Amino acid sequence: MVKSILFVCLGNICRSPLAEGIARKIAKERGLDILIDSAGTSNYHIGEPPDSRSVAVAYQNGVDISMLRGRQISKSDSKFDLIVAMDRQNQINIARLKLENRLVMMGEFGLDGVDIPDPYYGDSKDFKRVYDMLTKAINVMFDEIA
Ligand code: 4NP
Repeated sequence: MVKSILFVCLGNICRSPLAEGIARKIAKERGLDILIDSAGTSNYHIGEPPDSRSVAVAYQNGVDISMLRGRQISKSDSKFDLIVAMDRQNQINIARLKLENRLVMMGEFGLDGVDIPDPYYGDSKDFKRVYDMLTKAINVMFDEIA
């Protein structure tokens, strides 16, 4: 049984904080006691709040992620039962760290293995698309693992 999950993207300001907020909401609704966190593979946005477009789409759907702050994945993240990469490139970069955790891709859950597309250079429609993909995948993930 999975008791802790770490969502990981590149910057930890667009996709993975959104995944963290959505997962916390769904876990609460389902009465699941799971530790949920997020991190980035890069050091680009350490200490920064999530991108305002991620904060906005989350807020429109009843999820507050404004208090989250960017951090970089590190060896100490070995404590998580499961690491969920947002795309193939980040999965490769996480695997290089040689942590002991089980490592999967978000898209493996109900999305035919696709990458969660990086919305950073996109617009609010791209963030909504990411929100919808994450909501579907996280529901399927909890059906399968929790
Ligand atoms: P994320 O999006 O990996 O979903 O947080 C990005 C955020 C920042 C950058 C790239 C992607 N960046 O190049 O700064």
